[in-house]
Amino acid sequence: MASARLRPFAIEVTATKRRAVGDNGWSMTDPNVQVLIPSERIQARIRELGEQISADYPGGDLHFVCILKGACFFMTDLARAMNRDVAIDFMGISTYGKGKTTSGEVKVTKDLDISLEGADVLIVEDIVDSGVTLNYLVHLLQQRKPKSIRIAALLDKPERRLRPVEVSYVGFVIPDRFVVGYGLDYAEHYRNLDAVCVLDDGPVA
Ligand code: IMP
Ligand code: MG
Repeated sequence: MASARLRPFAIEVTATKRRAVGDNGWSMTDPNVQVLIPSERIQARIRELGEQISADYPGGDLHFVCILKGACFFMTDLARAMNRDVAIDFMGISTYGKGKTTSGEVKVTKDLDISLEGADVLIVEDIVDSGVTLNYLVHLLQQRKPKSIRIAALLDKPERRLRPVEVSYVGFVIPDRFVVGYGLDYAEHYRNLDAVCVLDDGPVA
């Protein structure tokens, strides 16, 4: 079962929480947590996206809006892959989901600190799933008079879309599987894995 692409991921089960672990020496195995996108591929793709986005915005006032919490890993790596200045800001969005589903209700839990007026805005998101969150957010941020709004998402699950969303920069299109790591969580766990891993049962496609 184990191969370079399909390494079983390590996990520790304790009375209070399950802790997934990566290449950093922790132990135990969980056959249900498998690497889908290794860290090196994520980093290489982010370097490409950084070059492309830098070229697409040669001037102007570029603001990255990071959607907490999942996108913070992607946003910080993407910002450092840019060869121009960017302003960064954070927005907290709650979609009322603690497990693997999104309920559809969206609420702002932390608003931006910086005005977007006249700025080129790039919303930086971890994953586009139903599209409910980003569809809501684009409409919300459009009211703040930015010069432009685009979206960058590390992952896209297009099969799951319920609301239309135009994503200008996509890291990886993935199948309809529940993934964790590189910022993505399951009930607040697994975010600090350096790879994107599949959490559900079955082999990695
Ligand atoms: P959407 O509104 O359905 O597009 O959901 C977007 C949010 O749901 C993301 O920002 C994630 O926080 C969460 N989400 C969607 N799919 C996954 C997944 O496979 N793993 C972890 N979180 C996910
Ligand atoms: Mg989440």
